[in-house]
Amino acid sequence: MVKVVLLSGSPRPDGNTYQVLEVCKKEIEKEGLEAEIISLARKDIKGCIACYRCGELKRCAINDGLNEIIDKIREAQGFIVGSPVYYGTARGDLMNALQRIGSVSRSSDNFLAWKVGGPIAVARRGGLSNTYLEMMMVYFINEMIVPGSTYWNIVFGGKTKGEALKDEEGIRTVSRFAGNVAKLIKKLYG
Ligand SMILES: Cc1cc2nc3c(=O)[nH]c(=O)nc-3n(C[C@H](O)[C@H](O)[C@H](O)COP(=O)(O)O)c2cc1C
Repeated sequence: MVKVVLLSGSPRPDGNTYQVLEVCKKEIEKEGLEAEIISLARKDIKGCIACYRCGELKRCAINDGLNEIIDKIREAQGFIVGSPVYYGTARGDLMNALQRIGSVSRSSDNFLAWKVGGPIAVARRGGLSNTYLEMMMVYFINEMIVPGSTYWNIVFGGKTKGEALKDEEGIRTVSRFAGNVAKLIKKLYG
């Protein structure tokens, strides 16, 4: 079955980023597609160590749980990533994950190519556009297809869990985006 993986980069398993991805998951399911959220909470995703072994192994040489996530992404047709903004950038663990996922894809069978999806940034106040674009770099160097929405995928959250859901325009934007991801997958793979 066609499927979308949604990766939450927040260390809080039920935080704002996760809740925003839950909204996206529902939109994707409304279109009849399967969706699964994977959270990096309680995981310790290391940075790439430049061992250059992924070409030969076709997986990452570091065994910290990311290979299991890569297997799920490889099987999916869609890949959406959400990150909280930390100091004006994406959370470190999330970028560790994206850089290693990208490296495994590029040094094996380019499994990211033609997957549909895109990034979503969640923050209290500042650094949303930076973070959105930082994650987008990974999409566009891997031949991925990113549909638009009626605004950029940025949502105002805060320290309190649930705040992001109150950002009406942000939620409307990411809902439309997630629906567009699903519609495009159906056109390409349905
Ligand atoms: C270490 C740290 C750094 C943060 N840096 C920023 C920042 O630069 N800009 C901002 O608007 N919010 C910043 N925040 C707030 C989070 O982005 C915000 O609370 C977001 O809603 C958290 O998402 P979560 O609930 O999914 O963890 C920071 C939070 C932490 C813990």
